[in-house]
Amino acid sequence: MNFDKNLLQSIIKEFTIDTEELKEIAANFRQDLKLGLKDPKDSSLRMLKSYVGLPTGKEIGEYLALDFGGTNVRVSRINLQGAGKFEIIKRVAKPLILPGSYDYVGVGSKFEDMFNFLAELIGEAIEGENERQFYLGHTFSFPSSQTDIYDAKLITWTKEFATSGVEGEVVNDLLKDALIRRGIKNVEPVSVINDTVAVLLSAAYHRSDTFIGSIYATGQNNCYIESSIDDPKNVGIGGMILNLESGGFMKLTPNRFDKEFDEKSEKPGEQRLEKMVSGRYMGELFGMALSELLNEKGKHYGFSSIDISGILMDNSVAGNRIAAIVKDKIEKEIDSEDAKAIKELATAIVERSARIVTATYVGIIWQRAGSGEISHQHIAVDGSVYEKMPLVKENIDRALSELLEEEAAKVDTVLDTGGSGLGAAISAAMVANKE
Ligand code: GLC
Repeated sequence: MNFDKNLLQSIIKEFTIDTEELKEIAANFRQDLKLGLKDPKDSSLRMLKSYVGLPTGKEIGEYLALDFGGTNVRVSRINLQGAGKFEIIKRVAKPLILPGSYDYVGVGSKFEDMFNFLAELIGEAIEGENERQFYLGHTFSFPSSQTDIYDAKLITWTKEFATSGVEGEVVNDLLKDALIRRGIKNVEPVSVINDTVAVLLSAAYHRSDTFIGSIYATGQNNCYIESSIDDPKNVGIGGMILNLESGGFMKLTPNRFDKEFDEKSEKPGEQRLEKMVSGRYMGELFGMALSELLNEKGKHYGFSSIDISGILMDNSVAGNRIAAIVKDKIEKEIDSEDAKAIKELATAIVERSARIVTATYVGIIWQRAGSGEISHQHIAVDGSVYEKMPLVKENIDRALSELLEEEAAKVDTVLDTGGSGLGAAISAAMVANKE
């Protein structure tokens, strides 16, 4: 078939961010942090207070952790042993959508069914232990406005979730009602935290030099510990981590694919950064660009970020794996030259994603350092895109060097697998210790 080379190059250019633009994004992100600290209304970052700071490492005991916010829901029983050590006693996980069977997140889905499903999973995790009292920490990975560590109201769904009856509600109240409906009386939800906050808590449980937590998965978002919020009346347990909802950052230049996708999305105009970088969206952008190369503009092939990952993993000259992945979706045979072009396109989309995400990390690092020196630190990251997508880590490192130059040696990103669950348990322990 062979794609039009000029068209391919022009599309790739639209997905390319040079060093200058990268610096501009990081500086604008820092500026929005500054504005947001004064008044979130003046910033595209929500700067949501989590009412929790960093753990001491002395949190111990057995807790339930509910991790809700991506494609799968997980409930774990975790025994915290202190100083970063823990044991997962039991873990149950189920997808929120099982095609042909159920869908708790799509248009038409309702909150009762969604929360009944969560209660059912919690029931499985406690395995009929109906006497013993469990504290439950809830990682709820959506923008929520909080007045304390328990009271979190969903502001708006993101990541194309559309379940009715949850926006504006206190999510742990909905969970409590569902537990009662299921006859589970011995599980008490005591905390709600964002998944970025969970990752930071989990990392800080065993390392003291981590101040930024990040999720790079279905969604993309960052949080950090803000030391200037120290008003005793207003501070959380151990300080105040701010959930930035950085997926909503607006000071970026979307290309025409980004714009077109946004218009068709569940919430047009929102989560503009997330729609350019996260796992939920990269496959969609890739499909849109490919449809143009195939002269089928407007056709929806249903590529996912797992397909992109598969394409990038094919290092062969023939590109057979790429051809197989693509054939399955576009129903056409492609040759090795096309496969090479397809890989170039996928590379451009993934590189752009990693570069934008890195610019947000550096914006936070600059803001935390103020006019002083950048401290040695790790950025804790969890999520499938960070963990599994080829090219992501090396592009983060490269972008860190472009932005921080020699100071880049002080900063690295570290994978905190399972941090979303562990952090929920730690937050519940922090509540228990405070009581
Ligand atoms: C979306 C959510 C945010 C979450 C992120 C990662 O951006 O709005 O709260 O942290 O996804 O799951």
